[in-house]
Amino acid sequence: MKVFVTKRLPQEGLEILTASGVCEVSMCDSDDTLTKAELLKRVDGVDGILCVPYDIIDSAVLDAAGPNLKMISCFSVGFDHLDLVEIKKRGIRVGHTPDILTDATAELTIALLLATSRRIPEGVEMVKKGEHGGSLWMCGYGLTGSTVGIIGLGRIGFAIAQRLMPFGVKRLLYSGRTVKAQAAEVNGEFVPLDTLASDSDFVIVTCPLTPETQGMCDKAFFSKMKNTAVFINSSRGAVVNQEDLYEVLSSGKIAAAGLDVTSPEPLPTNHPLLTLTNCVVLPHIGSATFSTRGAMAVLAARNLLAGLQGTHMPSELSF
Ligand code: NDP
Ligand code: DGY
Repeated sequence: MKVFVTKRLPQEGLEILTASGVCEVSMCDSDDTLTKAELLKRVDGVDGILCVPYDIIDSAVLDAAGPNLKMISCFSVGFDHLDLVEIKKRGIRVGHTPDILTDATAELTIALLLATSRRIPEGVEMVKKGEHGGSLWMCGYGLTGSTVGIIGLGRIGFAIAQRLMPFGVKRLLYSGRTVKAQAAEVNGEFVPLDTLASDSDFVIVTCPLTPETQGMCDKAFFSKMKNTAVFINSSRGAVVNQEDLYEVLSSGKIAAAGLDVTSPEPLPTNHPLLTLTNCVVLPHIGSATFSTRGAMAVLAARNLLAGLQGTHMPSELSF
């Protein structure tokens, strides 16, 4: 069988595929995202695809792969880049990488929250410029005694909540489609999205990108937030209306934002959000620790082999 890996894969995953004797591996030997034209060309006739969130797997890609395609393995937990309706129609199985990246992503989200609320990147620049100021200079907002609202108390949202508890957060709110039994462990209160926006000092987005969440954090949402509040997004860029975010940040309607994800990625270097000192933008590095990326590669490879062989998949997406 033939498989195509759309981006250079950590060695431990690649070794599992090449040593399996199950498939012939063709890998894009680059760290750049493939163009659509290149992706269409490279998937021709394959049985399996191992892809990253930047590869949009739509009917054009499925058609280009052809009838042999039986398995799509995501090197990610998120699967918003897949056209699941078309994939299901064709009886193709899908694997992804939940759980093993939860801790790394939660850690990074906490780092981003603190960097944003305590203005760390701005402070580093001040030191380089030799600047110093008065008693309110470079002040930010602290977590102690605060109210934190998490949109999407799933695996990552819950891991963030656990990590926040020792900081002395007073109230932990969450919103989503369903009440979570596990929320009791972090004293989480299930509230409507509007209440979360209006009552939180920190809003953290950790839900998936779906038709329902696309553009959810827009002008109407931000206008309910406190003007001292900090907004953090580590889910997907398209959950946020970035024009609206720029407006509320530049007008001081909210205090600051930290984004690990944007739309598009990378964000053009002349994007207005990058001109703001109260916006910290990272290049989608939530799961970027050596061990996590290695574990993701191993799981994605095992998922792929199981899908090719028609056996039990360690982490199959049900849809
Ligand atoms: P989970 O499925 O465990 O959690 C997602 C949560 O979002 C669930 O609790 C779900 O609640 C909730 N949710 C679904 N729809 C809505 C909605 N409309 N409004 C509010 N909440 C909603 O996923 P993970 O925690 O593992 O991952 C979450 C997302 O994080 C991924 O989909 C991915 O996009 C992103 N991610 C980003 C990374 C990064 O590098 N920045 C790394 C890894 C993931 P319910 O069960 O009630 O539907
Ligand atoms: C995911 O797993 O969905 C991340 O965004 C990629 O690491």
